[in-house]
Amino acid sequence: MFLNTIKSLYYAFRCSIFKRMDKKYAWAETEFLIENVPNEIWGEVGDSFANWVYQQGFFAALIKCFARNESLKIIDFGCGHGKLAPVSVFFTHPEGEYLGIDIQESYIKYCRRKYSQLPRVRFHVSKDYNPFYPQQQSAVAESKSYGSDWNVSPDSTDIVMALSVFTHLQEADAFGYINKIHTIIKPDALAILTCHIVEEPRAEPGFIFNYNPFLVSLFKFTTLLPGSNNWFTCNPELPESGIAMNMAGLNSLIQGKFKVELIIRGSATGGKDPFPQDVVVLRKLALPIDKV
Ligand SMILES: C[S@@+](CC[C@H](N)C(=O)[O-])C[C@H]1O[C@@H](n2cnc3c(N)ncnc32)[C@H](O)[C@@H]1O
Repeated sequence: MFLNTIKSLYYAFRCSIFKRMDKKYAWAETEFLIENVPNEIWGEVGDSFANWVYQQGFFAALIKCFARNESLKIIDFGCGHGKLAPVSVFFTHPEGEYLGIDIQESYIKYCRRKYSQLPRVRFHVSKDYNPFYPQQQSAVAESKSYGSDWNVSPDSTDIVMALSVFTHLQEADAFGYINKIHTIIKPDALAILTCHIVEEPRAEPGFIFNYNPFLVSLFKFTTLLPGSNNWFTCNPELPESGIAMNMAGLNSLIQGKFKVELIIRGSATGGKDPFPQDVVVLRKLALPIDKV
């Protein structure tokens, strides 16, 4: 017991020295990552320290592989606790910008505090509405403005990221936002979305989900939603709590606007990736299909 206490004190001491050395000699941009893992990552569905670290690297790698320039202008639509803000600095350097947008004022206040030291990051509270999330009182259930208060010019953005957002949008809303995203990104630029893509027959969840019956029960998208017959929910009482689409749904969503660069199949709908959702990397068509 005594020996264990001494050992853990020794390790804590050693870590603090390495942390200090790392901060001293690493690139300025990495300092924030070394020091800060938000406590708030615990408690959200599926989030954990491992997930936070995995996702930072995973999405940074996607940006690195698919972005064609530097000094990127990045929008993180539905940024939540701003998971991507710390890694954004490598891609916005030297003159780009990361803009995190969310409808929950408390998240945006958190991000502004947490990331106040980070260069080139900015946050915006949108007054749009999503029935699954608490938002400020001025948000109006009937208003479907689809980002009209984002204050972003057309053809101005290099990447829109939307992690775990289209998984909470019904079909008409998904179309509203994909049109907005299409308008604000530059020709040939990227949209990286995560969604749940279901196929028939339905695949069993893979990887981490096998060990967690509660999570498995959350991701059974058995109820067909009204519309094109391509959209599903796991909760008919409140569909936005979990939404899936099939490939026909995804194709109709992006048709004439984007081409698919890559789809990585996530573990909730049977894929092999540790990330639970399907990740879709889209590139905006240089010219709309009807003008080619
Ligand atoms: C599941 S959380 C994901 C948060 C973050 N992207 C992440 O991966 O950690 C979904 C986020 O999207 C936000 N959101 C939902 N609908 C939105 C809308 N219409 N406009 C902006 N944000 C929205 C929610 O407030 C919530 O923070």
